[in-house]
Amino acid sequence: MTDGYYVVAATSELPEGGQLYLELDGEEILLVRHQDQVHAVAFLCSHAEFSLEGGQLRDGCITCPYHGAEFSLHSGAALSPPAYEPIKTYPVRIDSGNQTISVCATPNPVLPS
Ligand code: FES
Repeated sequence: MTDGYYVVAATSELPEGGQLYLELDGEEILLVRHQDQVHAVAFLCSHAEFSLEGGQLRDGCITCPYHGAEFSLHSGAALSPPAYEPIKTYPVRIDSGNQTISVCATPNPVLPS
């Protein structure tokens, strides 16, 4: 760990469309690569707290596989019902030299909707 960030994977372990479960400091996190960007979001949906893992990635959003709520991968905002509360997002760093992905276990501030 360095300044709150944990190295969690090699970049090669997360191909486009890939999803990876993490637990850091008690935070359950889903790491995803979509449109060549890596995002870290809450593992559990804000609707009924089922896993977002396996949710479809499209247009910068993840769709909950259970009841279809959509969330922005950038802000965590809930974009469609039945979820109305945002999910957490976490800071991500890519080290292109070492080809590693690091995630901070302290969530980003929730952006006003
Ligand atoms: S648990 Fe995700 S939409 Fe219901």
